[in-house]
Amino acid sequence: MILFSPHTNHDKDVTVVLLTAGQIHSRFKKDLEKGELYPVLEGSKSFLFVGLGKADKLSLTDLRIQVRKAFLSNYLQKAKTVEIVPHSKNDAAIVAIIEGVIIGSYIWDKYKSKDKDDKTIKVRQVTMAVEAKKIFTDAVTICEGVSLTRDLVNDNADTITSDYLEKIVRGLTKAKKNISLEILNRKELKAKGLNFHLAVNQASNKEPKLIIVRYAGGHKNEAYTAFIGKGLTFDTGGLNLKPTGSIETMKIDMGGAAAVCGLLKNVLALGIKKNLLFVLGIAENSIGSAAYKPGDVITGYAGKSVEIGNTDAEGRLVLADAFAYTVRNYKPAKMIDLATLTGACVVALGFDYSGLFSNCDELARQLLDAANKTDDRAWRLPIYPELKEHIKSPIADLKNTSNIKGGGASTAAEFLHQFTEGTTWAHLDIAGSSYTEGAGRMYYGHGATGAGVRLLTHYLLNN
Ligand code: BES
Ligand code: MN
Ligand code: ZN
Repeated sequence: MILFSPHTNHDKDVTVVLLTAGQIHSRFKKDLEKGELYPVLEGSKSFLFVGLGKADKLSLTDLRIQVRKAFLSNYLQKAKTVEIVPHSKNDAAIVAIIEGVIIGSYIWDKYKSKDKDDKTIKVRQVTMAVEAKKIFTDAVTICEGVSLTRDLVNDNADTITSDYLEKIVRGLTKAKKNISLEILNRKELKAKGLNFHLAVNQASNKEPKLIIVRYAGGHKNEAYTAFIGKGLTFDTGGLNLKPTGSIETMKIDMGGAAAVCGLLKNVLALGIKKNLLFVLGIAENSIGSAAYKPGDVITGYAGKSVEIGNTDAEGRLVLADAFAYTVRNYKPAKMIDLATLTGACVVALGFDYSGLFSNCDELARQLLDAANKTDDRAWRLPIYPELKEHIKSPIADLKNTSNIKGGGASTAAEFLHQFTEGTTWAHLDIAGSSYTEGAGRMYYGHGATGAGVRLLTHYLLNN
């Protein structure tokens, strides 16, 4: 949590003073290098001066990175209260500082045993010496949605099950106005014919679930915008089992559904006045004698049959049923899905950008604009009519793999496109962007990043 106060008090345990080149603080006459941290003790007061380098060379990404560095430094580890004196009153800069604090100092250490003598303070009271504008308090709220998404992605696959995600959704929506839930379990999925979803979950001992939150925050006649998340609580690859080196991170395969939870939290906290649907397609792609099989032909909710070319291309199957069910039963005007869908997207874009696909240039432009403004980055990749040829099957209406090598993120997106039934739609492939292995990247530490949450919250606030 960050509180805002227009006045500097310097009565906190540590005052963090951000300085660009040429900004000389009264207590301290020196120009700091970019990235330099300079602590000063003055009686009982401590200051941490943070060098940001030349103002015109300082990107907002850099700013978040520098704030993160200061907050993770030893100088702040024992501070109960921290005051930030920003280098600028610019709105975008203040938002970036807030994100540098909350997103930047997020650490997943739930399962690390704590040293008895560890004096590190986790819950700090942070204040910032600016007036409490709505855009700043909103930024704090939005970052808390990002943290929820990260917690869900980071925890064990056997903890974050479909039942657990149902509890999260029920918790978020409890006693909230204009909310109704539809939850399809195995029995309902069977009765309604969501056979793709069931097939993917067939070898799992966990319940498959399609969770639909209907939020009527807007005008009675306004059509819904649907957010649909891939929620594979674990993806072994199925009988096309993933090899060592690919399987270890597959607890993240519910990153799309987790982002939808983060977005839902934000929408309710911000009181966004729109009619929205939040859809989570939850399954576990396991192996076992009950598993669905390569070569199977399955007919899903939309009535189209699909030849299973590979049981590891399971996300598109769950989403295909979720799309068709949502379109036919709720008739949204727009549909945006988030999915850790393809390794090919990671090959194409790496980890810093989500892949964006859309059948609507205007929607794509709005989403790219939100991606740029929030630094929750996205890059558009193509879908086009000829892709349909590559997902044809001799024995079914479609195939869940491509007949050509290359362009796997686009052929997967085209497969999804086949189930949009004419709805304006965009797809974010977050396979690379939702998670970071190793030490981290930019202002994210190891683990989940919450990709998509800031982007889509901003999209809703501005369109
Ligand atoms: N969940 C994976 C995609 C993925 C890969 C996410 C790496 C995060 C990091 C997805 O279900 C998958 O296995 N896709 C296959 C599709 C292929 C079999 C056509 C892939 O990308 O290899
Ligand atoms: Mn897979
Ligand atoms: Zn998957």
